[in-house]
Amino acid sequence: MSIAFCLGGDMMNCNVFVVLFIWLSVIQSTLSVVSSLKTEASIKRPNVLFLVIDDLRPALGCYDYPKVISPNIDQLASRSVLFENAHVQQTVCGPSRTSFLTSRRPDTTRLYDFGSYWRTHAGNFTSLPQHFKENGYFTYSIGKVFHPGICSNHNDDYPLSWSKPAYHPSTQAYMMAKVCPDADGKRYMNLLCPVDVSTQPEGSLPDIQSSEHAVDMLKEFQADSSEQPFFLAVGFHKPHLPFKFPKDFLKLYPLEEIDLAPNPFKPIGLPDVAFSPYHRLRIRHDFELLNVSFPYGHVPDTFQKRIRQHYYSSVSYTDSRVGIVLNQLEDSGFANNTIIVLLGDHGWSLGEHAEWCKNENFEVVTRIPLMVHMPGMTDINLTNEKKFPFQDVLKSGSSQRHKIERGPRSTALVEAVDVFPTLAELAGLKVLPTCPLDTLKVDFCTEGASLSKLMMKSAQETYNKEEQFLYNDMSGDNEDWKDAVFSQYPRPSVHPQWSSDLPDLKDIKIMGYTMRTRHHRYTEWVAFNPATFQADFNSVYARELYLRDSDPLEVYNVGNLPMYEDLVMKMRKKLIAGWREALPK
Ligand SMILES: *[C@@H]1O[C@H](CO)[C@@H](O)[C@H](O)[C@H]1NC(C)=O
Ligand SMILES: *[C@@H]1O[C@H](CO)[C@@H](O)[C@H](O)[C@H]1NC(C)=O
Ligand SMILES: *[C@@H]1O[C@H](CO)[C@@H](O)[C@H](O)[C@H]1NC(C)=O
Ligand SMILES: *[C@@H]1O[C@H](CO)[C@@H](O)[C@H](O)[C@H]1NC(C)=O
Repeated sequence: MSIAFCLGGDMMNCNVFVVLFIWLSVIQSTLSVVSSLKTEASIKRPNVLFLVIDDLRPALGCYDYPKVISPNIDQLASRSVLFENAHVQQTVCGPSRTSFLTSRRPDTTRLYDFGSYWRTHAGNFTSLPQHFKENGYFTYSIGKVFHPGICSNHNDDYPLSWSKPAYHPSTQAYMMAKVCPDADGKRYMNLLCPVDVSTQPEGSLPDIQSSEHAVDMLKEFQADSSEQPFFLAVGFHKPHLPFKFPKDFLKLYPLEEIDLAPNPFKPIGLPDVAFSPYHRLRIRHDFELLNVSFPYGHVPDTFQKRIRQHYYSSVSYTDSRVGIVLNQLEDSGFANNTIIVLLGDHGWSLGEHAEWCKNENFEVVTRIPLMVHMPGMTDINLTNEKKFPFQDVLKSGSSQRHKIERGPRSTALVEAVDVFPTLAELAGLKVLPTCPLDTLKVDFCTEGASLSKLMMKSAQETYNKEEQFLYNDMSGDNEDWKDAVFSQYPRPSVHPQWSSDLPDLKDIKIMGYTMRTRHHRYTEWVAFNPATFQADFNSVYARELYLRDSDPLEVYNVGNLPMYEDLVMKMRKKLIAGWREALPK
């Protein structure tokens, strides 16, 4: 068939077709080798390194965010498929993590706050690490992977998810402690917290401890002769606040080079219910001193710039710790047989919309960095090179900004719930079926979809350098893929109050459902009953519609303008139909 097409078609299309054909054959044979590994003990199944970064928005060099220096993650991105339009299902840690680690959405895990454990509260859903553990993997969690506490049964879902109890860095205990030196020489519980690490309690910081522990584990795996594949999850704590990091990283970002957000004001026509009053910042000593009135007071411009500066510094610091882990993966000889995923658990506002936290339904908080590295697929040109040499962020500094190598990219709309089925498929484990309507009754299924086909196409298009015309347009409207992605956020009241950022389940009165299509973002805030977990779409508090083609920063809510009534009704119908209807047909 490909030959016939070539004979009849023009030369350029023909080349693409043949290369695609050959490529798919290569990948198919790779995947089928992987799936038959259970029977062929001589070939080792791929390991998985799962990197999750707390509160990281795509403020990274590889996402064309020019200010931020992140050479280690950029290097991983150049050997991965980078997803440019990846979104989480709720913009706060616990619900987001439970969602992507079970591949179920918050309305199925029934976790919108930090107060319940899905297995006893919603359904005994198989988790991502559990699936690997049940298929012979050694699974281990370092740092913040599941949200700790009730959400993961006070034990990070051990032993169902992990082969041994999770590791937590001891210095995370000082998250709310007065450890940040201020100008007066005293220590406070500050938001902005560059430190001399040697003066900190225990002389360390959480991500230093976690990355050192990950390095030790990789060395142990290397010494282990059992050949058991591993699923190693490493959860980094920064850039979650407080912005506590080794103070040298601050030098990468001179304050005079830092801008305000391009849209540092409340959107025109924003309903009150949409606003997050960012109480997590307000409880910090240095922020309290500013006397910013609740909920809409103005944060002084210089302090806005300093927040941005300290967030970027935290990202560069985290990047250096990620680099240490990736470098050890390479040194231990695992790089050519380890699938690597890196993702954020949700975004973060740095003054956009006059917001300073998460807990919202804007793009800037639903969108995450997501990259998936599959040896032999996403790095086909680079298999013989050293993949992950450590890049010293402090030494390389701003020169790194100009050296970002581009790897495969996908602009498809994808969701964090897609990660679990993707990894299962790439590793050759049992593929998750799509969840049926009574999803609560089924333990093993997905409310997402595997990204492996998108990955193959992106990789093929990138490495076929002569055919660059395909490069950025693989996921247009005609693409056989989801045409919308979904997220949601609860509120206790119409007007912002102290608990608006994170209401307890019993206090939830309103649910904001948001949907991103290729050209629009549509959000509807509707009545919600926390006893029955039912939303009432006939009781609408507010609507938001942003025309993303002309308004990518979401500064103008046109949802109440009569001229958009038809579009609003169309969007509303699609939002209510939900994720199932948005799946590729
Ligand atoms: C969930 O299922 C596992 C087996 O996969 C079982 O060991 C565990 O007890 C179950 N938990 C609950 C709460 O039903
Ligand atoms: C904040 O309020 C306190 C008490 O009213 C006052 O002493 C202080 O000067 C104010 N600070 C600023 C930055 O306005
Ligand atoms: C991976 O690299 C090691 C040497 O570092 C080599 O022995 C092994 O055969 C390679 N495996 C694959 C699948 O290429
Ligand atoms: C990838 O491989 C192709 C064909 O072998 C080559 O032309 C191209 O320069 C390589 N690209 C990189 C980034 O190494």
